[in-house]
Amino acid sequence: MKRKKYLIGNWKMFKTPSQAEKDFSEIVTTLATHQSCDLAIAAPFVALPYLTERNRSSIGVFAQNAHWENEGAFTGEVSASMLASIHATGALVAHSERRQMFGETNQTAGKRVAALLKQNLEAVFCIGETLGERDSGQLAQVLRAQIFEAVAAGNLRYSTELVGSDPARPRLTVAYEPVWAIGTGRAASATEAQDAHVIVRSLIAEALGSEFAAQVRILYGGSVKPENIAGYMSLPDIDGALVGGASLTPTGFAQLARSM
Ligand code: PGA
Repeated sequence: MKRKKYLIGNWKMFKTPSQAEKDFSEIVTTLATHQSCDLAIAAPFVALPYLTERNRSSIGVFAQNAHWENEGAFTGEVSASMLASIHATGALVAHSERRQMFGETNQTAGKRVAALLKQNLEAVFCIGETLGERDSGQLAQVLRAQIFEAVAAGNLRYSTELVGSDPARPRLTVAYEPVWAIGTGRAASATEAQDAHVIVRSLIAEALGSEFAAQVRILYGGSVKPENIAGYMSLPDIDGALVGGASLTPTGFAQLARSM
């Protein structure tokens, strides 16, 4: 199974809607003919309608979170169905900053993923260990809990919701982002990343079946830059990258895309 590479820029809590709109349209213009990988930007909620409304390109527009109920008394949340109504492509789920600062759990993550898939949207499910967990030999155990607890809570199974209409671009993507590498400048080595991706793929095979494990794109994230991205992309189990800091300028994002 040939998996199409995927580059997603995570703009976190940066840019006003007008800055986001300007930068996104620059990206669209610069990369209009770029077809070798799938591209997307995850922007703050308030910017999303500005990006989706005029977007005629194949570049995806992601939210950075999504609630599982369609509506209700959930102050501060935005639902997957609301994202569908503005034609967003999907949402990131359980980014480590949400896990560490906002109480995201594997259970809530699974429910968010399920709600997005139900709306025919994409979900980029983020997992990864802390330095303490890695140093004490708990990498595989932590990844197992993150995947299996989310799959159980979201009642996820191999289905058309999970895969979508194009097996080369399944709706569920996994992002492996070691917490110690995010925004620290200390990227995982190629071997550390590839080894972790092999573990993730085998856990996905156990949880969702080997057919899906062969299709699912597993992105690496954590201090990816134009200078190191090609090294990751040459590895057999790394299918793309989720990039924060280095994706913030249109030039940076275009450089990353061209180095995939
Ligand atoms: P970084 O962030 O590229 O700035 O390390 C990655 C992420 O948080 O997704």
